[in-house]
Amino acid sequence: MKYSIEELKEFLKPLISEKRYNHSVMVMEEAKEYLKKYANNDREFYEKTIRAALMHDMAKEMTQEEIKEYIKINSIDLDIDNPVNKPLIHGIIGADKCIKEYDFDEEMANSIRWHTTGSTNMSLMDKIVFLADKTGRENLLPTLKKVREKAFIDLDEAIYYYIEENIKRLKEKNATINQKSIETKNYFFKKLNKITKF
Ligand SMILES: [Fe+2]
Ligand SMILES: [Fe+2]
Repeated sequence: MKYSIEELKEFLKPLISEKRYNHSVMVMEEAKEYLKKYANNDREFYEKTIRAALMHDMAKEMTQEEIKEYIKINSIDLDIDNPVNKPLIHGIIGADKCIKEYDFDEEMANSIRWHTTGSTNMSLMDKIVFLADKTGRENLLPTLKKVREKAFIDLDEAIYYYIEENIKRLKEKNATINQKSIETKNYFFKKLNKITKF
């Protein structure tokens, strides 16, 4: 791997606020907790996953102008004016930037790309980064505590539970639900064979 964690931290710092930087480090630390159980002594997998976790929000504080410009220069097919896409933008741009600027491979970039909504066919790395982002926080609310407990038992169950709760919450607020979240939920619903379990 081209860059050490310390080097990546130095790159990350000026890109985001202190608060988000601290969040990023906490997500990496949380990913380490999950990796204790799931990395299977695979050192390379471990190193890649913690880098993806650290950098997952690196594009979150880009301005609308910077995003527009980046999309144009890099020919990224993404409608940033559609509010439904809003939660996805920083993952998609962050993934692209990490490949081009920080020597990430596709596996690492993919974990960043869909960390907000999850996706179908998530890899082990995708799942760890997704969940660490949700549970690597101080003072977890009961739902997130439960997500974390589940994550140490079964990552798929934890993701399904999180997304289901999140969609419920958004519906109550009459907020828009991203199509990608629904796809993820349906994917895990089928994968976990939920239909036979009621
Ligand atoms: Fe994010
Ligand atoms: Fe995050």
